[in-house]
Amino acid sequence: MLSKVALVTGANKGIGYAIVRNLALQYAQRISTVPLTIFLTARNQNLGQESLKKIEQELKSRQILKDDSGKIELKFLRMDLTDEQSIKDVGEILERDYNGLDILINNAGIAFRGNVFDTNVVRTTLATNFYGTLNVCNHLYPLIRPNGRLVNISSGVGKLKILSSELQKEFSRDDLDINGLIGLMKKFEKDVEENRWKEEGWPTQSYAVSKVGVTALTKIFARRADSEGKNILVHACCPGWVATDMTVPNASRTPDQGAETPVYLSLDEEVVPKTKNGEFWIYNKVVSW
Ligand SMILES: NC(=O)c1ccc[n+]([C@@H]2O[C@H](COP(=O)([O-])OP(=O)(O)OC[C@H]3O[C@@H](n4cnc5c(N)ncnc54)[C@H](OP(=O)(O)O)[C@@H]3O)[C@@H](O)[C@H]2O)c1
Repeated sequence: MLSKVALVTGANKGIGYAIVRNLALQYAQRISTVPLTIFLTARNQNLGQESLKKIEQELKSRQILKDDSGKIELKFLRMDLTDEQSIKDVGEILERDYNGLDILINNAGIAFRGNVFDTNVVRTTLATNFYGTLNVCNHLYPLIRPNGRLVNISSGVGKLKILSSELQKEFSRDDLDINGLIGLMKKFEKDVEENRWKEEGWPTQSYAVSKVGVTALTKIFARRADSEGKNILVHACCPGWVATDMTVPNASRTPDQGAETPVYLSLDEEVVPKTKNGEFWIYNKVVSW
């Protein structure tokens, strides 16, 4: 029987790791007889392989893995968001061996610690969070099959209100396309380089602006999915404030709790009638961007 296929980026630890495990558990609990192959991807081969083994060990007692006659198969693929060739390579494998993809969860991301802000911080943050996520969408969205899902992990700190009203208008235009969005992100980089980001309406926060970009690109891909009539659900979400290496140990949610909304958006049938495409979600609910 042809397997369904899911892929999670940045899944060797933190929320991505929890998404892979919870996706496996929740998919297996549903009545579907179709098997699911989940690709755990990570930029570091060893860390990725180790995490795959760890999840397999954790799931052994649940009897849901293919080796235990269950429906779930876990596999590792190397993918670095800042290395476009590694994204293309993954796309080729999915196309050649699986004829496509059903669930894509863009989770990988970085955040500098402390209040550092300069041209280098902005470029590095955008390279992974914005351009990396965009490249994964560019190469893998075309492989998503009808009735598939695309979930981008953004953040509640990337709300429009952090921008000037002029920039808010630009980012929320219904006719904003990818080139227009790249133009806005390049303007942010240039305004920082030329030391006039504040007067141009940007906050002193590279991570937050990168996530504004992730939510904006999600809306563009949602409009594309609707116009192509492919019946693909495309949404952005915030996992909440989660205790991972990115934050602090006393953050309010566990990685499993952080995985709840992305897994809900990937699997749940309720999502379909609940809303239009391209929304921003937190705690399984649509909120304003
Ligand atoms: N934690 C929170 O409170 C929170 C809140 C809102 C949004 N988020 C978002 O949730 C997502 C997951 O964050 P987290 O808290 O789980 O952070 P984390 O524990 O630091 O995990 C981040 C993951 O992304 C991977 N990654 C970083 N750069 C990459 C690249 N160039 N290519 C491929 N993978 C890369 C990391 O791999 P390495 O191990 O190799 O570095 C790691 O697997 C991020 O997008 C983050 O912005 C988190």
